[in-house]
Amino acid sequence: MGEAARITVIGTGYVGLVSGACLAEMGHQVICADQAEWKVARLQQGEIPIYEPGLKELVATNVSANRLSFTSHIGGAIRSSDIIIIAVGTPTQDNGDVDMSQVNNVLTCIAANAVTSKTIVMKSTVPVGSGSLAEQHLRLLAASHIHLPVVSNPEFLREGSAIWDTFHPDRIVIGAKDPEAGIRIARLHASLRAEVLHTDRESAELIKYASNAFLATKISFINEMANVCEKVGANISLVAKGMGLDRRIGPHFLQAGVGYGGSCFPKDTKAQLKLAQNVDYDFQILRAVIDVNRLQRERFVTKIEREVGCLSGKRIAVLGLAFKPNTDDLRDAPALDIISALQQQGALIQAYDPAAAELVMERMPDVPVFTDPYEALDEVDAIVITTEWEAIRSLNWRLVRSLVKAPLIVDGRNMFEPVEMSQLGFTYVSVGRET
Ligand code: UGA
Repeated sequence: MGEAARITVIGTGYVGLVSGACLAEMGHQVICADQAEWKVARLQQGEIPIYEPGLKELVATNVSANRLSFTSHIGGAIRSSDIIIIAVGTPTQDNGDVDMSQVNNVLTCIAANAVTSKTIVMKSTVPVGSGSLAEQHLRLLAASHIHLPVVSNPEFLREGSAIWDTFHPDRIVIGAKDPEAGIRIARLHASLRAEVLHTDRESAELIKYASNAFLATKISFINEMANVCEKVGANISLVAKGMGLDRRIGPHFLQAGVGYGGSCFPKDTKAQLKLAQNVDYDFQILRAVIDVNRLQRERFVTKIEREVGCLSGKRIAVLGLAFKPNTDDLRDAPALDIISALQQQGALIQAYDPAAAELVMERMPDVPVFTDPYEALDEVDAIVITTEWEAIRSLNWRLVRSLVKAPLIVDGRNMFEPVEMSQLGFTYVSVGRET
């Protein structure tokens, strides 16, 4: 690897914590700083506040090697490092604009504490132009002899496989106005085998939004194709396979279902739409992508109603609550909207999720959540699948058949072969495939 750098990462959410631990693993000296004292106290005890496979072990190894530490004294952490990575939240405001208050607070803190020049890295997903505004903000507040160039270095990791993604990136994007600052940040990743793309700062900022918006477009597109498949008797799995064999299209992100969720696609597509609006451009495809994703959840609920009949008083097992497998993240999870819609019609929900049960109980105390899937399946009138967890795939479906009152599965993630489920005695309804 190249030279070890002294790095402070501000914000210990998904991106900050994973990036901090991975940079320490690459040999750098990393301080993860967060103003939330409770979070820092937990991290110092070796507890990881998020569910991410492998992260606990990675943190422990690097803490023991004295390469990684946690603090709530952000000012001190800033003074101790030469590179400051900003990884705080950028939520959406009610009017659709990105809320930059956390980023701005960090910038003010950097300017107040920097007594030597430092390179500032923007890892938070921020609207195009933010790097330039950040630099102005710093120039205004910091002492005039202190140089604080801002580099855009967007993050492309996926929850659930965040560590793998960080060590095996498809690309590292570095957008800098000051070329030396860009090179300094590229050097941090010298031990990774990945294409490094140096761009201007604005392009780097847009690459992040464009990538998420394009991936979301693929999902909404395949979901609309699935809806057409249902009308004409075609099979979306085969259609997607046939499309994906074209190298220009590729096989990924063509899995039809109940639509995308999570903290990124819903937020970033809306932010990109608003950003275009703010510069007087109507991004029509993106508007449709967002609408289709919302309607896909509604269509799924209609499908359940059609299969079950009147939902009032019916017991429905909802399997999989997190927005995708291998995470306990419930942000914009399709399952939560689907559960609320079913409850509004009087259905009695029995839910199951291998990781998110506790969080659902906190958030939706009226939803009984079981940690044993077979308990959730007891005597139900229908089984609804909303997240494709391996723990659901590997259930003993013969046993499940004997537990339920009615053998109906409505699968929002196309987890099973329809013929195999009907051989087991289920009425199996999925998305874009004949039953
Ligand atoms: C996404 C991007 O994939 C990352 O590259 C990006 O860094 C991240 O957002 C971010 O902006 O921070 P993530 O939200 O963790 O990562 O999850 P994905 O694996 O991309 O899945 C997003 C949603 O799309 C899930 O709800 C998933 O079920 C859904 N999806 C995905 C489909 O419905 N069909 C597919 O074919 C693929």
